[in-house]
This record gives sequence, structure tokens and C-alpha cells, in this order.
Amino acid sequence: MIDDDKRAAAAAAVEEVRAGMCVGLGTGSTAAHAVRLLGERVTAGLSIRAVATSEATARLAASCGITVTDFADVARIDLAIDGADEIDEGLRAIKGAGGAMLREKVVAAAADRMIVIADASKRRASIGGAPVPVELLPFARAFTVAKLQALGASVVVRSGYRTDGGNLVADCTFATMPDPEALARAIAAIPGALGHGLFLSEVDAAYIGADGIVTRLERSAGSR
Ligand code: A5P
Repeated sequence: MIDDDKRAAAAAAVEEVRAGMCVGLGTGSTAAHAVRLLGERVTAGLSIRAVATSEATARLAASCGITVTDFADVARIDLAIDGADEIDEGLRAIKGAGGAMLREKVVAAAADRMIVIADASKRRASIGGAPVPVELLPFARAFTVAKLQALGASVVVRSGYRTDGGNLVADCTFATMPDPEALARAIAAIPGALGHGLFLSEVDAAYIGADGIVTRLERSAGSR
């Protein structure tokens, strides 16, 4: 079952948490498994601090007994654990179906090590099939959507949805994505685009669950 594979991947990642660490907690159904499993270790006596990539995750973590620190007061963390919508063999990922990609990106960048956890349905030879979510400034909605369309995206702004930061999310589908790095640079250069779900260099390792077996993919040294 897919949910069992998500939980198995989460359990493997949570094994990397050591006493005294500051841990970044991701958002989504797979990350929620990691939060619950980490909560069990905390209840059993593990001492850690955590930051959360969304208000929902902060609430879940607190309910599991994990001390959540305001990320505004934190400059670096030891380990981030988060899900993904797609991850490829080069550990490039698309994230943000849950809308938290901007906070997830900052927390991943602040982490000494970032682990993606996923079931095998998220694994790809190359990313590019999933929509790339873009968090955009409501003030600049039409301008930013037009700029994203000019990059070749079919753009759908989520109806009635605001991020934890109070912004909009535009899901951008590309017919092809031959150069994700160039696309990431182009999106980042749009003034009204606050963040996007292309995680091309942040991920250090991935634990992928498939039929009860967890495979670890590790980025080669020095290539982050
Ligand atoms: C949240 O904004 C996302 O980046 C999630 O991490 C991603 O969508 C994976 O979510 P699931 O684990 O629920 O599939």
C-alpha cells in the first residue's frame, strides 16, 4: 500500500535524527508520518528542537509533543525531512502540491542536510510532469501569471486558496521541461513570483518506499 511505503520512507529518515539536533519538519501526508514517528521518539526521551514548514505541520508536531521553534529566530538547522511530488535520479524534485513550497525551500536551504521521503509513485527518470507551483504576490497576480504564461506554462491560480504567508499559488504545467535549471532561474527572476516548487540542488538524499522496501538515493559529495 502506498501509505505503508510513505511511512516506511519516513521511518528511515527519522532514524537519522540525533539528540540535540534542530530538525526541519516538512508538509504533506508523507512528512506527517515523519512528524508522528519523530514524536514517538521524543515521547521516548529524544531531545530535539524543530521548525515547521507550515502552520498545519506546527500544529501536528505540537500535538505529538515536539517543541516547535519559530523559524524567524533560526539561521540554520541540522536536518530537514520533507515529501515531494516528483523526484528524479539526480535528486531534483518538484514540491508544493500542498502549497508550502516557499517555506519548504527556505527551510531546505537552511539545512545542513535535506532528505526527501516518498513512495515510489513519485520517482521519475527526469522531473517535469507535475505542475510547478509558484507562490505569487496577490498585488501582482495578473502580471505574474502573464510572465509565467510567457515561459510556456499553462497556469491555474488555486481558487480560494492562500498560503500561510497570505499569498496566492499558481500551478504551472509545462508541456516539456528540457532545462529545469533555466526554468527555475526564469521563474525566480519574475518580481511577483515569491518562490517556486523546483528543488534542483537542495536535496541531499531521498528515501523511497516501494512494496515495503526502502531505497536510499544519496547525492554525490560536493554536487549540492
Ligand atoms: C507540500 O507543500 C509539498 O511540497 C509536499 O511535500 C508534497 O506535495 C508531497 O506531499 P505528499 O507527501 O502528501 O504527497
